[in-house]
Amino acid sequence: MIIGIPKEIMSGEHRVSATPDTVRKFVQDGFRVLFEAEAGEGALYHDEDYKAAGAEIRTDVKSIYNDADLILKVKEPLFNSVLNIHEVDMMKEGQVLITFIHPASPVNHDMVRNLAKRGVISITLDGIPRISRAQQLDALTSMSTCAGYKGIIMAADDMVKFIPPIFSAVGSMPPAKALIIGVGVAGLQALATARRLGATTYAMDIRPAAREQATSLGAKVIETSVPDELGVGEGGYAKHLPNEWLLKEREVIREAIKDMDIVFLSALVPGKIAPVLITEDMVKGMKRGSCIVDISIDQGGNCEITPPGKKEIKHGVILNGIKNIPGMIPQASTYMFSENMYQMVKYFVPGGKLNLDMTDQVVSSALVTNNGEILHVGTKEAMGIA
Ligand code: NAI
Repeated sequence: MIIGIPKEIMSGEHRVSATPDTVRKFVQDGFRVLFEAEAGEGALYHDEDYKAAGAEIRTDVKSIYNDADLILKVKEPLFNSVLNIHEVDMMKEGQVLITFIHPASPVNHDMVRNLAKRGVISITLDGIPRISRAQQLDALTSMSTCAGYKGIIMAADDMVKFIPPIFSAVGSMPPAKALIIGVGVAGLQALATARRLGATTYAMDIRPAAREQATSLGAKVIETSVPDELGVGEGGYAKHLPNEWLLKEREVIREAIKDMDIVFLSALVPGKIAPVLITEDMVKGMKRGSCIVDISIDQGGNCEITPPGKKEIKHGVILNGIKNIPGMIPQASTYMFSENMYQMVKYFVPGGKLNLDMTDQVVSSALVTNNGEILHVGTKEAMGIA
């Protein structure tokens, strides 16, 4: 079986779907690997190392799409404006694609329909369930770890004061206060990072298990006032709150953020748009010079005035809505992503043979298109064809 690794074409995307190490493992497992020249440069992985690992370096990406059985990418297929062709239109019937497709998102619906039409077998990384046996496949968790860490580092960089307590000859300064709302994977890493930098940390979450984990990381938990039975749904995931409880939670947050220097927003209910937990009016009540980092921006944002994809100062508060945060630590995120991808290939293509057992939850929730059909339940729902 032939694996193709194209260079990512999304603007500002520095990651790539394989490191020289994972290429070496693929080759040892019996795969042939076609690697687009300079695809790893953005993450500081170089062609000569891929070549030494056994990859064939190609400059013509069309030939990679043409010859490979399995395409591994980081981001969803996009229009390649240099070649004037969509990446899906370079793919062929029966070819397997593994990447983050975000298939339920309306902006991707046409692309997903086209994947089905071309007969591509597409598998999305954001469909991998968070169950223990799929942990090694879970690129979403890896990327959330990166976003939690780097998001706090960005806030630290924007701060107008120290984060740790400082004792100097002219007086002492207290530590900064950081509140993390939504302490899932990203939020817990944000908490740990803020604490390592010396901040006093606070956490809010509607799931008791998340609050417990935050406490064990040394954070003070601020109760949301939401009853646990309303916050936790099937499989232990968070639930979409009824409006009256969302409004009550906002009132708690309104008071809490008045005193914070950093507010890190990472609250999400799987498969839904992000709950709006902070309104513009609430931002007005915050201290001037405080920072909001809203990493849920891809799902609409937890703060109603977060600027998508950029940083802006509004009402004296620095609002950061930068997307693709893992791409800002490309070497580490590429390392994690590529290891997850290697496990994905082992899982879905054991011994070089595609295995799509639809009775397996991992397969059924990650498979997007096969045999010309759209199979992904959330996508069908979002398209109104369920
Ligand atoms: P997760 O599902 O592990 O955590 C989300 C947490 O939010 C859960 O603990 C949940 O209980 C909590 N939550 C849900 N509703 C809440 C509410 N009303 N109040 C308080 N807490 C609530 O998700 P993960 O992986 O940590 O991702 C968090 C966000 O970060 C997502 O929006 C994800 O897309 C985003 N992300 C952004 C990246 C970027 O580059 N901007 C990269 C990776 C993740």
